[in-house]
Amino acid sequence: MKATSDTMVGELEAAAPALAARLAALENRDTLRFAMCGSVDDGKSTLLGRLLAEAGMVPDDRLAQMIRDSKKHGTCGGGPDYALLLDGLEAEREQGITIDVAWRYFGTDRRAFIVADCPGHAQYTRNMASGASSAELGVVLVDARAGVVTQTRRHAAILAMFGVQRVLFAVNKLDLIDYNHARYHAIEHECAQLAHDLGIEHADAIPVSAINADNLVKHSPATPWYTGKPLLEYLETVRVDRKVDAAFALPVQWVNRPDHKFRGYAGTIVGGRVAPGNEVVVLPSGRLSRVTRVIGGSAELEAAEAGQAVTLTLADQIDVSRGDVIADPTLPPEVAAQFACHLLWLDDTALLPGRRYLMKRATHTIGAQVTEIKYRIDPDTQAQLAATRLGANEIGVCNLSLDSEIAFRPYQDDRRLGGFILIDRDTNATVGCGTLDFGLRRDRNVQWQQLDVDRAARAKIKGQSPRCLWFTGLSGAGKSTIANLVERRLLADGFHTILLDGDNVRHGLNRDLGFTDADRVENIRRVAEVAKLMMDAGLIVLVSFISPFRAERRMARDLIGEAGFMEVFVDAPLGVCEERDVKGLYAKARAGKIANFTGIGSPYEAPESPEIHLRSDQESASDCASRVVKILVD
Ligand code: ADX
Repeated sequence: MKATSDTMVGELEAAAPALAARLAALENRDTLRFAMCGSVDDGKSTLLGRLLAEAGMVPDDRLAQMIRDSKKHGTCGGGPDYALLLDGLEAEREQGITIDVAWRYFGTDRRAFIVADCPGHAQYTRNMASGASSAELGVVLVDARAGVVTQTRRHAAILAMFGVQRVLFAVNKLDLIDYNHARYHAIEHECAQLAHDLGIEHADAIPVSAINADNLVKHSPATPWYTGKPLLEYLETVRVDRKVDAAFALPVQWVNRPDHKFRGYAGTIVGGRVAPGNEVVVLPSGRLSRVTRVIGGSAELEAAEAGQAVTLTLADQIDVSRGDVIADPTLPPEVAAQFACHLLWLDDTALLPGRRYLMKRATHTIGAQVTEIKYRIDPDTQAQLAATRLGANEIGVCNLSLDSEIAFRPYQDDRRLGGFILIDRDTNATVGCGTLDFGLRRDRNVQWQQLDVDRAARAKIKGQSPRCLWFTGLSGAGKSTIANLVERRLLADGFHTILLDGDNVRHGLNRDLGFTDADRVENIRRVAEVAKLMMDAGLIVLVSFISPFRAERRMARDLIGEAGFMEVFVDAPLGVCEERDVKGLYAKARAGKIANFTGIGSPYEAPESPEIHLRSDQESASDCASRVVKILVD
């Protein structure tokens, strides 16, 4: 199941909890948002259901219905299955697992609660991240029989990563360890250690048994040694740090220009307050202006504050676009294009540094790549491990580079301006989510130098238009042979050319790279950059690399520009290439002597719509070359 990006980090003010918060505010009750996490069998739904029932929050007819349903499809041998009290998710019942974040809302006289009910399966980590990133408290279920396990550590690590500073470990199924104080005490200690290792400021634990309602609403006689609060009272009274974002900031969602007279900037205020007359700065441009009107719906407002959706008008005609942030100039967000970040990878296809993704942050979507994985965090020990890729559910600390600057605040100061997701450019799936930790200064200190002589001028004295002919195909398909013939003919016709051949470039510039996915991505990134420089020199560039991945060929196309890029697919079936085996590499690969050999241990993703498609098994190399030259010269 792929969650759409709209339900993920960065878009965390999901409609349901926002509505619930507003209801609670109307009732003048304090609201606590907590994320509840547990593995499949920890009894999370039972605990929540039982808590609601014990607190008298479930109407009698609903209880009776639950008891009837329990006989039919309960999981408690026909006895009451309190998990069934949790509404909605039919699919959850069918599969016997929780499949998505269910936002639940309930309240007592003292407090209202918004619960992100997070599934425990590793494959639902995205939901957990989404729940954590808007929670003030995390409740982690621990099975008393097992104590702290990898999954507990993973859940706590995700809570910590997404800024949850208070965690309650609900040690469940105490009945199954005979309410053994010593055992509970040992688990409590393990939990405290875990929280400490993760830098979680406040950690508590409560011994419970959801099945027997121990310490849910009342102190249980079975745990006389426990003197803390029962769960409900804990939730009603626990203090959470609420950062009040005093400084005004509004990420622009869209520019409203119904006619030439009106120009408004619409979005939801993420911090502070705004009123007509206030000075503001528009970032990243840094232009200053003054608010003239604050419009909410169709009404003129005297002021508006965090959480409200408004349209602002400004006194000056300045350039403001979607994704810009309008902010208080005395406490403005920072501006950067490169960041240190924590990244939680969610996709089965690994994160590869250098590969291009889209980043979505608040209202903004922008091209992005991870330039470096500094380290991966071991979920069990928190150790920093060397990594060249991140697999599903792995957390890494990385450098992230965006196509242009954005205004942001570090995640720990502002979840909305500092939380982001990464999206796959082809499938549109959310593949990662993370936190912007700080901007890297390096990009601010390096500026683009304007030069007087440009590509057009250099090309003009050569009397040609720079182009990039990108030959891709299996090893042995004939790329280099054909590219070589093409270059000879172009040279004979007076063109200025350069041929970048994979094997040759790997002897020099790319001699540090091998054939892992990560290295191939870097291989193509470098050669695409070189091709671009050569085009700037006015040359016709022939690139002959296997370049097996669509994503990187697309990266090269984007970098070089659609107009100058021609993808030439040198197509011969694997069997034919293998039979030719000019370099003897296929034989070695089949014998297991070369790992990751393209077509055997590593995939080749054929182009979907190349500009030129050559069937090198059906046409001679010379004919193929003639076709390319003809298309180029015409
Ligand atoms: S790419 O996949 O990263 O684009 P590149 O074109 O630079 O590959 O290099 C491919 C050449 O390296 C092949 O023509 C072959 O001679 C050699 N080679 C050595 N090991 C491998 C391998 N595992 N997979 C493919 N080619 C390999």
